[in-house]
Amino acid sequence: MLKKRKYLFILIVAASLISCKQPKQEEQAENLDQKVAATLKLASIQYAYLGSRTPLGRFPKAYDEKTDSLETSDSGWWCSGFYPGTLLYLNEADPNPEFKQQAYTALGSLENEQFNKTTHDLGFMMFCSFGNANRLEPKPSYDTILLNSAKSLSTRYNAKAKSIQSWDSAPWNKAEADQMPVIIDNMMNLELLFWATKFSGDSTFYKIAVDHANTTMKNHYRDDFSSFHVVIYDKKSGAMVKQITNQGAADSSAWARGQAWGLYGFVVMYRETKDKKYLQQAENIADFILNHPNLPEDKIPYWDFNASNIPDALHDSSAAAIIASALLELSTLSEENKAARYRKDGEIMLDNLLTPFYLASPKTNGGFLLMHGVGNMPKQTEVDTPLSYGDYYLVEALLRYKKLHGR
Ligand code: GLY
Repeated sequence: MLKKRKYLFILIVAASLISCKQPKQEEQAENLDQKVAATLKLASIQYAYLGSRTPLGRFPKAYDEKTDSLETSDSGWWCSGFYPGTLLYLNEADPNPEFKQQAYTALGSLENEQFNKTTHDLGFMMFCSFGNANRLEPKPSYDTILLNSAKSLSTRYNAKAKSIQSWDSAPWNKAEADQMPVIIDNMMNLELLFWATKFSGDSTFYKIAVDHANTTMKNHYRDDFSSFHVVIYDKKSGAMVKQITNQGAADSSAWARGQAWGLYGFVVMYRETKDKKYLQQAENIADFILNHPNLPEDKIPYWDFNASNIPDALHDSSAAAIIASALLELSTLSEENKAARYRKDGEIMLDNLLTPFYLASPKTNGGFLLMHGVGNMPKQTEVDTPLSYGDYYLVEALLRYKKLHGR
């Protein structure tokens, strides 16, 4: 009898604990739902304001709060696709003819970059912009632009190194004309190549993307699945010369946005090829990030996981936005036991980005959404500022969140 009562007591306590927990979880989900909806409304205000400040033919890049000046670029800067891309995402979330028109105008100014063979950033520039435009409203003219962009990007492939060359200049050693740098960021340009093979039936693009990703797995990644920023190859032999950094704290460090680009890139690799080794790679990178002792409690990474002044180092909101968006997609590809964690941590990042510390109030921050991005700390450029790519991947993550929750 006593035993039965004891079990009954335990059952009642357990049931009440579960019932206490349930509403709390639902409450959190409801809160994030509300925050996502409110942020999309805020984005309409911000991007109308940003548009009003952006001169025709220019592309928003960053913002200096002290002088209230918007930094813009021409179409050749690697970030030029993010502004039209963000407008297209916002129009997708809530049809807005003005944003659509603004996006089309920006696309017009960007079009010529399809022939640009001096940069590896054509995926960022052309796929985030024309790729989204074509996905939403397919047009033969977009197909042509995207295919030309993929062809231009492919000219940078070096068959010896089995990699796409990133930059043309070699600031670390100008004398080494026979060397080529490949940066981890370059993983983000491969999606354009997959599109090109699907569209044209020419498998060359697909093969270049796979070669590039395989070489990156081999030479950019350390045993703990953190990534070097830059790998230098000998152009003639294809041999790896050295592994260094340009934007990180040290050659041996884990620059936060580099880890974000790699994670996102290998998620795309698995989506496009269904080769399990890329899923494994994406999960290993995600685990490196999420289990890192220097990942702060709010899960918004410091600009470098090995910055010397942690915990006083600046956080990089752009890295968090990219990681959150990648984790939300990864959660749809991984096995359920892992997927739940990726989704939960992606949503925690999102939840923390949508707080007043990171998210601008209406008509502040030059019109951008996110504050506190870190562009290039070693060069002291774009430090603690909004960044067009932070906003792009944030809005993408908001849309992914809504889709995952059937909203
Ligand atoms: N692709 C340059 C950067 O992430 O800053």
